[in-house]
Amino acid sequence: MNFKRLRVNGNRLQNTLEEMAKIGATSGGGVQRLTLSDEDKQARDLFVRWLKELNLEVTIDEMGSIFGKRAGKNNALPPVMSGSHIDSQPKGGRFDGILGVMGPLEVLRTLDENNIETIRPIVIVDWTNEEGSRFAPAMVASGVWAGALDRDWVYQRTDIHGRRFVDELERIGYRGKTPAKKQPVHAYYEYHIEQGPLLEREAKRIGAPKGILCLHWYDITLEGEANQVGPTPMEGRHDALCAAAEMILKVNQLPDKIGGNLVATVGEIQNHPNSRNIIPDRVHFTVDIRSWDDDHALTAWEDLKNDFEAVAAKRGCPIRIEETWRVEHSPFDETLVRRVLDTAEELNYPGLHMVSGAGHDASYMNQIAPTAMIFVPSINGRSHVEIENTRWEDCEAGANVLLHCILKSANENKEN
Ligand code: GLV
Ligand code: MN
Ligand code: MN
Repeated sequence: MNFKRLRVNGNRLQNTLEEMAKIGATSGGGVQRLTLSDEDKQARDLFVRWLKELNLEVTIDEMGSIFGKRAGKNNALPPVMSGSHIDSQPKGGRFDGILGVMGPLEVLRTLDENNIETIRPIVIVDWTNEEGSRFAPAMVASGVWAGALDRDWVYQRTDIHGRRFVDELERIGYRGKTPAKKQPVHAYYEYHIEQGPLLEREAKRIGAPKGILCLHWYDITLEGEANQVGPTPMEGRHDALCAAAEMILKVNQLPDKIGGNLVATVGEIQNHPNSRNIIPDRVHFTVDIRSWDDDHALTAWEDLKNDFEAVAAKRGCPIRIEETWRVEHSPFDETLVRRVLDTAEELNYPGLHMVSGAGHDASYMNQIAPTAMIFVPSINGRSHVEIENTRWEDCEAGANVLLHCILKSANENKEN
């Protein structure tokens, strides 16, 4: 069969995404489906139902990741895999992650209704906890699957209320039995919104990242001395929040100070006891550092750590630093990246070779299998917000690129 004219059904993809966006819908037009929450469970249940409607072989692994396998002509060959995540940020958007799960679902629906059999099997996957917002770090399920993270370490991670990952996994009924252990994968494609401004700025429809920046996460805890704010003189205070404030500005100034390719952010803070008339005695905040250059990110961190220690000493606020998570920058498989660009061109979609500043499960998959991503534009470059948006015709265009990339890889006959 000549596949050249084959296209996904854009309306069906839109309907599917709109159906999913009802789960955890927020008043501001976004979604909130925190990992292992009731909303995450509801969305998983719907996804599993859709997988079963396609007669896929569905498995849930011990990290809660959901796999749907479509048989090929030669099931001894490693499959082509595509997926992303169903979980979202708090007050997140309707496209981040879910597009990369509903996109391959639409691809498989298209193959089914056209009676297309591929040589290799095709596996669609929803990875648990990509966001790392409720349970840090991010991308844990693909990390465990790829052998880069330890399952039991992840199981013990807690959310802000002290609930353990493993208990929440159990509670929502998604602690599967299949080992979270890598299997040979012929090619992994992750379809995603860009989450930045470049495609729109360059008037391109398809992005093909050459890879993903490194991600380094740190957790900082400061101890202060609580006291009544009125009678306590300003001199001699040990105000943990003031120490944190100084440190946070140092994070923001770090890229300018150090130069080179680097972004650095504090996104989360807890202040204790958080009362307007008590001097804060404990503060926790997070640091996120990203760069294409792993060594540069580490050098920057060393510099920042020295500054943190100096501030902590000056203010008499003991500091505890947890180096929570590091994932190296991920240069993708050049042949697959080229395939994404060539496929976009064949379909008459202008393409852009770029870099991903956002983290994705593709980072870990890239450590064990040839990997590439397909990006579509984010309106006004906004993401991780309720107004995150992508044009429906761009969602369709990206799914068409995914369809043809999957077809090409799934019909490659050579071993491995
Ligand atoms: C994932 O969403 C990240 O880039 O932090
Ligand atoms: Mn994502
Ligand atoms: Mn995200």
